[in-house]
Amino acid sequence: MMNTKITRELFDKVILPVYAPAQFIPVKGQGSRVWDQNGEDYIDFAGGIAVNALGHCHPRLMKALQEQSEKLWHVSNVFTNEPALTLAQKLIDNTFADRVFFANSGAEANEAAFKLARYYATEKYSPYKTKIIAFYQSFHGRTFFTVSVGGQAKYSDGFGPKPADIVHVPFNNLDAVKAIIDDHTCAVVLEPVQGEGGLTSATPEFLQGVRELCDQYNALLIFDEVQCGMGRTGSLFTYQQYGITPDILTSAKALGGGFPISAMLTTNEIASVMHPGVHGTTYGGNPLACAVGCEAFDIINSPEVLEGVQQRRAIFIEKLEEINDQFKVFREYRGKGLLLGAELQPQFHDKAREFLNVATEFNVMILNAGTNVLRFTPSLIISENEIQEGMMRFAKAVEKVVNA
Ligand SMILES: Cc1ncc(COP(=O)(O)O)c(C=O)c1O
Repeated sequence: MMNTKITRELFDKVILPVYAPAQFIPVKGQGSRVWDQNGEDYIDFAGGIAVNALGHCHPRLMKALQEQSEKLWHVSNVFTNEPALTLAQKLIDNTFADRVFFANSGAEANEAAFKLARYYATEKYSPYKTKIIAFYQSFHGRTFFTVSVGGQAKYSDGFGPKPADIVHVPFNNLDAVKAIIDDHTCAVVLEPVQGEGGLTSATPEFLQGVRELCDQYNALLIFDEVQCGMGRTGSLFTYQQYGITPDILTSAKALGGGFPISAMLTTNEIASVMHPGVHGTTYGGNPLACAVGCEAFDIINSPEVLEGVQQRRAIFIEKLEEINDQFKVFREYRGKGLLLGAELQPQFHDKAREFLNVATEFNVMILNAGTNVLRFTPSLIISENEIQEGMMRFAKAVEKVVNA
């Protein structure tokens, strides 16, 4: 076999050009620090896009993975397995849900949720009860159904005819939902904090109003907590802070702490329409993923970790304020907990990606959410020292962009 040198240039030759990754290649991670091929270290404020909720190589997650790897890797859903049942029970014990469906990505969990909502409504009420109401700027994944429910045309256009009976209205606008919801509506789908769309939090009145409208029209309320769930905003799931309970909830990202896994949660009543063969997946509930998921769940779902989220947000904002005092780049801070957005001042609009790129030159990893918002989704247990060091590096990046 040819001995290929692994370089960033190789990416441009061998990978489908749907990403534009940074110029360095990470090879090792520990906590909130990452090292590249040359041994340079980076502070990680991106957390694998809200996935590495416990940082890199958490000793307890490594142990769980190692132990499970010596027992059983995969059996498919023709058989069940102990880690999947244990994780399902943990999710049920700590949420509104009675039933869990495991998949491998956020998109698949949402795909299952949308299919379940349609199936439930058409079985229980009428074959015409198929309308899904979703919101502009929302993001639910990249399968064709989820991208069509998502409210950003840039992700859904160009692939031919879309699944029908999906309507989009402005987020946080209850009147818009009222105007469109009817007896043919099977579900309203939303992210309690819109992630990719710019870190916009739902208002409590909006969620309460949507809940009431769903009840009035026998439509299911689906919360996509793929990004904002599993401790990210300071409670296990964000709906618990609002006190508004959905009928279906999807989780992924932090659920596996870096190991791919997702889950769709629902009630016995809604689950009752399903039977073997209606939906499925080969890998969902994989023992390796669920063993890591169980350990991640126990660590995240502790007062110590959950309470630490707000403290860390406060430090992040304090540091961003210091940068802002000097460079006047941020207009406002958005999101909840460690799903933190810094909206850029109008003169820096469309430059979010430039901030991100320059940040990597100064050895700090951040994200954007759209073109005007910088996004920070670090480990939920990032240390104060790591925040300070990362922010010192980030300040230099901001200085360079501002003076460019
Ligand atoms: C709210 C939300 N839903 C769904 C998804 C899709 O998840 P995945 O990329 O794991 O399919 C994402 C990914 O960013 C997300 O933020």
